[in-house]
Amino acid sequence: MSNGPSVSELQTIEHDVLVIGAGGAGLRAAIECSRQGLNTGLVCKSLLGKAHTVMAEGGMAAAMGNVDARDSWKVHFRDTMRGGKFLNNWRMAELHAKEAPDRVRELEEWGAVFDRTKEGLISQRNFGGHRYPRLAHVGDRTGLELIRSLQDYGVHQGIHVHMECTALDLMKDGDRVCGVLAYWRDTGRFVLMKAKAVILCTGGVGKAWRITSNSWEYTADGLAMAYLAGAELLDLEFTQFHPTGMVWPPSVRGTLVTEGVRGDGGILLNKEGKRFMFNYISPRFAPETADTEAEANRWLQGDKAARRPPELLTRDEVARAINAEVKAGRGSEHGGVYLDIASRLPAETIKKKLPSMYHQFKELAEVDITKQPMEVGPTLHYHMGGILVDAETQMTTVPGLFAAGECAAGLHGANRLGGNSLSDLLVFGRRAGLGAKEFAASAPAPKIDDAQVLASMRRATDILNRDTGTNPFVLQEQMQDMMGKNVGIIRTKSELETAVSEIDKLRSEADKVKAHSTSQYNAGWHTALDLRNLLVAAEGVTRAALTREESRGAHTREDFPGEREEWLKYNVIVKRGAGGEMVVEKRERKPGPGPLVAIAQSKIEDLEAGKVEPDYK
Ligand code: FUM
Repeated sequence: MSNGPSVSELQTIEHDVLVIGAGGAGLRAAIECSRQGLNTGLVCKSLLGKAHTVMAEGGMAAAMGNVDARDSWKVHFRDTMRGGKFLNNWRMAELHAKEAPDRVRELEEWGAVFDRTKEGLISQRNFGGHRYPRLAHVGDRTGLELIRSLQDYGVHQGIHVHMECTALDLMKDGDRVCGVLAYWRDTGRFVLMKAKAVILCTGGVGKAWRITSNSWEYTADGLAMAYLAGAELLDLEFTQFHPTGMVWPPSVRGTLVTEGVRGDGGILLNKEGKRFMFNYISPRFAPETADTEAEANRWLQGDKAARRPPELLTRDEVARAINAEVKAGRGSEHGGVYLDIASRLPAETIKKKLPSMYHQFKELAEVDITKQPMEVGPTLHYHMGGILVDAETQMTTVPGLFAAGECAAGLHGANRLGGNSLSDLLVFGRRAGLGAKEFAASAPAPKIDDAQVLASMRRATDILNRDTGTNPFVLQEQMQDMMGKNVGIIRTKSELETAVSEIDKLRSEADKVKAHSTSQYNAGWHTALDLRNLLVAAEGVTRAALTREESRGAHTREDFPGEREEWLKYNVIVKRGAGGEMVVEKRERKPGPGPLVAIAQSKIEDLEAGKVEPDYK
């Protein structure tokens, strides 16, 4: 790279459709495009198979009714809307609930080996916010099995996989997106990828925080590229803190402890040994939640008339409760709480149902979870906000640009139910593939002018070519600590305002960042390039959080407690004005279709008795 960037020497690859990101959504989208006869490219930042999808350990939610025949798409839809505090996109929540069972069965046909019931059906386990056992699973390694199956199936579909390749900027022809400039992480060389349609499946924004279940790849690349290309972003304030990450030792802080532990009967205790979740049952969920240990235990023993234990409240509620216990001085030795499965299940059952958790704690923390409680605390796990998409096709507000999976928004509203992500990836990954196919069918050949390619290359090489500058690793850590301190589980106006001005300062520093050495295998350069994207996401989350003056789902404002009717609206982020500054717009949300509203707001007894919208299929 020492001679400076040159467009004429540039490697160029062309596909009909390019999918960026190879987690569950990206693989499923690429499979669909390929099945539709399109020449399909799949770009992975890391090696194929290394995706945050594997961190959805406990299962994939789909109303198959294998373990409790009372389940149906309507109950799943109702649970999803209630869990999302009614901010979900109605149509996406409907499509998801209806199509998830087919996607599970299809995955099984493609080789996934699910755990079975005694009758030989796909087994389903309990999870927070799901009324019935609904999560099809493979022990506590479901995400891994999903990726393995899609990968095995996908490589035989003729998909062109580009590994260790990082997307830098989307390329446009007028208004439409028709490619991306990327670089190979090993050689540092640029590559221009052209396509009639681009599908972003780049996952979340977790690396903007230090304590996260996300690994190094999750730096908001798709979110930032889409925003900079003119796409609208939706409800970015909703960042999910999974209630149970490891808290000790420090090297593994944030590593996920699956909700499956609670789904299989695990309970949360404070340092006094009290099962504290009974003190945190919110009115919305009170009618369906056990308020005594006796009833919760009956539920565990299979009593269908008993209500669910409070440990299976939605993630936002459980994370806030843990946070409150720790703040009140009742936390565990290392600043979390205790999660006990040892006293609830025989050792052999724990090892069989939760093998990864058993090994994870044994190897990383020297804790035997069949004998001792785990120490756990909230960890940034997922982003409900993201790129605004059309419910049917997943097209963004920019022609030719699609998004699916975690980087897209709408399905989960203000809070996602555990297990709804794996089914989301499959349902909407497939739909994005179909949407891109339809768009590509009438799109002209991609045309990209040299100027935008050169600008993108220069932005990258400047980091290597300046004489001095800020250390990218130090900047990334400063941002993570600042976000943890000011944009955490509980938020206030003054902290959020501090964050906005700190992000401004960090951005000025990031503009001067310097990576030493050449572009080959240069981790400093990669980190420096990620910073722009992380800062776009950090700013978007913070500005949206400042704007939303209420507490809803995963967004809790200490200064604005409770949900507010006037805030049953969307926060849309757009790039506006000559300087391209970030603007947050409060947007009206269309009322849902009558039958869906009736289902979402129904009493569960009425829904189960078939009294609610019986003709709506
Ligand atoms: O806890 C878990 O196993 C995570 C699942 C999910 O995020 O869907």
